[in-house]
Amino acid sequence: MNDASQTNHQPGSQETTGSDSPRVAVEGLTKRYRTKGGEHVALDNVSIDIGAGEFVVLLGPSGCGKTTLLRSIAGLEEPDGGDIRLDGQIVSSASRNIWLPPEDRNLGMVFQSYALWPHMNVFENVAYPLRNGKLKEAEIRPRVAQALERVGLSAVMASYPSQLSGGQQQRVSLARALVSTGGLVLFDEPLSNLDAKVRARLRIELVSLQQSMGFSSLYVTHDQSEALALADRIAVMEVGRIAQIGTPEEIYDSPATRYVADFIGSANEIVGEVTRIEGGTCVVATPVGQLVGGAATGVASVGQKVAVMFRPEQCALSRNATATSGLNTIATTLERSLFQGATFEHVLRAGTNLIVAISIGGDRYAHGETVSLSFPESRTLVFPMPAGATQAGTK
Ligand SMILES: Nc1ncnc2c1ncn2[C@@H]1O[C@H](COP(=O)(O)OP(=O)(O)OP(=O)(O)O)[C@@H](O)[C@H]1O
Ligand SMILES: [Mg+2]
Repeated sequence: MNDASQTNHQPGSQETTGSDSPRVAVEGLTKRYRTKGGEHVALDNVSIDIGAGEFVVLLGPSGCGKTTLLRSIAGLEEPDGGDIRLDGQIVSSASRNIWLPPEDRNLGMVFQSYALWPHMNVFENVAYPLRNGKLKEAEIRPRVAQALERVGLSAVMASYPSQLSGGQQQRVSLARALVSTGGLVLFDEPLSNLDAKVRARLRIELVSLQQSMGFSSLYVTHDQSEALALADRIAVMEVGRIAQIGTPEEIYDSPATRYVADFIGSANEIVGEVTRIEGGTCVVATPVGQLVGGAATGVASVGQKVAVMFRPEQCALSRNATATSGLNTIATTLERSLFQGATFEHVLRAGTNLIVAISIGGDRYAHGETVSLSFPESRTLVFPMPAGATQAGTK
């Protein structure tokens, strides 16, 4: 499947080719939709690369432009600005007036609905794009059989989609995407119709299929745990732009902005004012005491209004407050502790702030008990607050 020799499209323009080119290179992409009220900018100067065998997850809230970006790469939308290269070959360039149709782009798409033909059996569904490509029957049969074997569906090749589980249908859709492409697959929320347990299992299956077959992917989701589990790199989108792109660890541990911090994982936030900045570290006066953390881009001056962010799992609770260097400490009262199976989730009050702490086992505290909460300064981030912004709280 991941055989570059299957690439057969005639590029509009060829500049760079070869194994060093990323599978997908998107540069400065802009897409506007005309609406009744005028114009809506769905993509605003978006740039992103996908390397060979890389799994990139596009994550963001509804309406931020994820599907538009995918459809632009697939050739289902015509961008208003920017370039798209596949394996180094230009398939779309607004400035040079180049735009190749989807059938010439040699990539596969897997949709939320799977989009299988109900009147065709599994074999025929997977063979469909090859038949469309006017391939000879003798070539089609082994390719389809191989694709179905790879996704573990050889035994049901004569079944119809209605006779399959959601997970099996998803694998048919994946086999169909892979059979006709040079190993580049675009996924648009393929698991979002399934219940949580099936979704978790298919996620693992998809990762192992991707690792054994080595296809490159751009995978859209708005489920952050799916993104963290699947991605080599995550691109977090915010209204038509990419807010940050990096490994799951980079995005989670070093979010570039308050938006990214709040979107990925849970974040506690306490608002305050900068009292000192020294070599990337920032001291903040807050209603619950002085807190110290790493200054994010844009935190620049004493007196500036900022949000201090820390993760629930970084918090430790104790009955006795002792000031320890390198730790931020806050006096709180316990509102409630929720047993969640593997962990406890504690909700604590400090002034008007509600703070969430997660622990595995540890001491139990009574409602209303005074509890000292601490978290490492090195895992605390300080973000600028836009003028007039209010506290986001914990989500
Ligand atoms: N054909 C269209 N005409 C006008 N506006 C559109 C069109 N398609 C999308 N939009 C708008 O462009 C923006 C981006 O849409 P898009 O479908 O890319 O979002 P998304 O991130 O995929 O959202 P979701 O998570 O809900 O699928 C939205 O505001 C949407 O309303
Ligand atoms: Mg979408």
